[in-house]
Order: sequence, then structure tokens, then C-alpha cells
Amino acid sequence: MRSICRFVRHLDDEKSEIMAKKERNSFSGSMGFVLAAAGSAVGLGNIWRFPYLAARDGGGLFLLIYIVLAVTFGFTLLITEVAIGRRSQQGPLTAYGYFHKKWAFLGWFSFIVPYIIYPYYCVIGGWVLKYFATYLSFNGKEAVADGFFTGFITSQWEPIILTAIFAIMCFYIVYRGVEKGIEKYSRIIMPALVIMVVFICGYSMFISHTDANGVTRTGLDGAAVYFLPNFEGLTLRRFLMIALDAMGQLFYSLSIAMGIMVAYGSYMKRSVNLGQAVDRIEIFDTLIAVLAGLMIIPAVYVFMGTEGMKAGPGLMFIALPNVFDSLGVFGTVIGMVFFLMVLFAAITSAVSILEAIVASVKDKFGWTRKKSVLIMAGTGFIWSVVVCLGYNIWYFEYPLPNGAIGQILDIFDYVSNNVLMPVLAILTCILIGWVVSPRLLVGEMRLNGYKFTRKGLYFVMLKFVVPVMLTVLLLTAFIQF
Ligand code: PHE
Repeated sequence: MRSICRFVRHLDDEKSEIMAKKERNSFSGSMGFVLAAAGSAVGLGNIWRFPYLAARDGGGLFLLIYIVLAVTFGFTLLITEVAIGRRSQQGPLTAYGYFHKKWAFLGWFSFIVPYIIYPYYCVIGGWVLKYFATYLSFNGKEAVADGFFTGFITSQWEPIILTAIFAIMCFYIVYRGVEKGIEKYSRIIMPALVIMVVFICGYSMFISHTDANGVTRTGLDGAAVYFLPNFEGLTLRRFLMIALDAMGQLFYSLSIAMGIMVAYGSYMKRSVNLGQAVDRIEIFDTLIAVLAGLMIIPAVYVFMGTEGMKAGPGLMFIALPNVFDSLGVFGTVIGMVFFLMVLFAAITSAVSILEAIVASVKDKFGWTRKKSVLIMAGTGFIWSVVVCLGYNIWYFEYPLPNGAIGQILDIFDYVSNNVLMPVLAILTCILIGWVVSPRLLVGEMRLNGYKFTRKGLYFVMLKFVVPVMLTVLLLTAFIQF
């Protein structure tokens, strides 16, 4: 029996070797792929979203749930997408049709999602640039003034100009290509980002402050609040809410269901150990998210107590500048380093999302890279301008199903993240888990004799657990619990 299995596996490996067309443009090796993919995964999600969710959702408890989900749920989806890319050697738009003609429509989801996200991600990149420039010119005081953020996003030209600068940087990197652009810049940006994160974390641990009531709080107290699970008032309902938050966050943070990992997978050399590379991306992404929490939560706790931690989405753009302000001159320097780091994180993510749409049209229509980047980045920028105008001349208030009031940016975000992405991921699980066979992708992972030890877990997750969990997540987009 064993030898039959081995023989079948051998055939499978052989088939996939033959089916691989001559190697396309690719990352130079495992390290290049991991840094570029980690560059995609580490973005505003890690630095802006993760800390406020963790602060809101009971610190350590959220962390614990997040890590368990990362090694089960995240691992399954990430492996699947990267393997789809490498196996098909196609951009997201054509990759799904490679597995089953009738399922080729999934490619369109995988094209539309990043095409919706890219324009508004550039707008947020422009906001980060604004904060960086403010600290760079030693005007950190301005950032804490009431209405600084709103005043800026509602102004007519400034957000558009800054978005354009951000978009040009992304355009240039993607235009240069996979190895000479994306990989090259990820190799510089990612180590720099890690150094900055560790530096700010270290600083954040050692600050202390005595408030008007004479209570002294230190960074270390804040770290304890962050890491120690808070079970106070925990009900089943709250537990489920936290789990859903963690799942949604993980999904976004790993750049899953955005076509990105399919595109990057298609540039991964067949000699690279796919399973190991995916593990590294996950560890990198989770580590940076946890460290981002450690750099922000203690600092906010020291100056504003547990109340400050409830700042929600405003944690980074509003609460944090207040912290920098309280730190005096040194705060300006920390603010500068901090927003440069956020800018780096945002650029590598925006680059990956632009590459996903570029790879799609390149493979579908046979366009050159030059033409693909020009058309995708060009039309994307028009949408970015529409998003910017959504805060002034086209301002409206649209109530979203989750209770939030949205403008154009929020609508783009809601449709892609809460609706299209879960649908794409559920259908991907069905396609690979049931219609084709997960064995096909396992064969891809075992190329060159690499081991895939968590095969059993992968099968169960892909066929049953992940689609069910994602369906619950999708339902929450329409129903309020
Ligand atoms: N993983 C990214 C983040 O955490 C998500 C993302 C990637 C969003 C690429 C847009 C583009 O920010």
C-alpha cells in the first residue's frame, strides 16, 4: 500500500514538473520570497488595526486566540493560495481556471478584490505620508491639535497630492519587476522596519508618567495589561465576538483572498520549500503584530490609562500623537521613526496589491509589464481621487450593515473585506477541497522530497473547518450579533 502511495506521489510530482512551463520571472530564492510576502502581510493591519483590537478585546486572550487561529486557519489558507500560484504559474485572474474550467470565474473575484483595495490603500498611504512629513518638519504639536486629522482629509488638494506621491513610489517598484523591484526593495525595507519596531518597543517599555491624581504608570505595567488575559466579564457571546475579530484580522493581515499570495506564489521557484516559506511568513507577520501592540499599548496606557486603550481606530492617528507630544522633543524623533516605519509597512503592502492586478492582466491579455503597470496604476489612481473627494465635494454618510457610518473609502473597504474576500476564500476551499483535490497541492508542497507533516490537519481544515468558520464571518457582514 505504502509503495503504491509513494508511486502515485511520484507521478504527481512528475506531472507537476512537466506541467510547469519554463520558469517565469521569479524571486531569487526562499529568502526573497519570504521577505516580499512578509512585506505584503506586514502592513497597516498589523500596526494600526491589531493593537486596537487587542486593546479592546482583553489583551492576552485576543493574542491567544489569534495565535491558535494563525497556526490552523491562517496556515491552511496561506498554503492553499501560494500553492495555487506556484502550481498554475499564473496570475490570480487565470490561476483558478487552470484547476477547473467552470471555476475560472473565481479569477475575476481574485482580480476585483485587489483592484478595489489598491486605490483606497494608496489614500491611506497618503495620510501616513502627511503624518511623517509633519514629524519630519518638527511640527508634531500640530498633529495633536483638535481637528488636525479631519481638517487634512477634508481638504481638497493635499490628500490627492500625497496619495499621488505614495502611488508613484509603488508604481516605480512594481514597474522595475519582481526581482529588481519588489524583492530588491523588500530586502532593504523589511530589516529596517524590524529595527525600528524593536527600537520603539524598547523605548515604550521604559517610559513612566504620574498623572494628576498622583498615580504612576510605567511601560512595563502597560505590557502586563497587554499580555495578561483579561477574563473579567467574559461570556460565551463575548468570547465568540473576540474569536470573530481575531479571525477577520488574521485573514486581512496575512493578505489572504486578495490575489496577492497567488501572484507571489507564481513567482516562487519550484526548488523552494513551500511549507517552510509559509511558516516563516506567518511567524514574521504575527511577531510584528504582537510587537506593534507592545510599542503602542504600553505607551498609550502610561499616559491615558485603560481608557486610552479604548480609542479604537483613532489609536494610531489620534491617541499616539498625544503620547509623542507628552514625550517632549524626543517624542518628535520617536514620532518620525514611527511614521517612517508605518510608511515602509504600507508601501510593501501596496506594492503587493498592485502586483496582484498587474500579474492578472499580464497573464490574461499577454500585455507587457510596462503596459500592465501603466494601465492598472493609472486607472487605480483615478479611483484614489474619487476616494479622496469622498471626504469633501462628494461627502455623504452611508449607514453600513455593521452600524458604522461610511464614506466612499469605507464602502470600498466593506465590500472587499467583509463580503468579497470571505466569498472568494470559501469558494477556494470548495474548489480545492472538494472539486479538485487537496492532494494536488500537497504534491506541490512535497516537490523535491520536502516533508509536509501537517497534511491531516490541512485536509480537515480545508474541507470542513475553514469554510464553516468563514461562512460565519461572512454572515456577520450582514447580521449584527
Ligand atoms: N496584510 C496587509 C496589512 O496588514 C493587508 C493588505 C495587503 C492590504 C496589501 C492592502 C494591500 O495591511
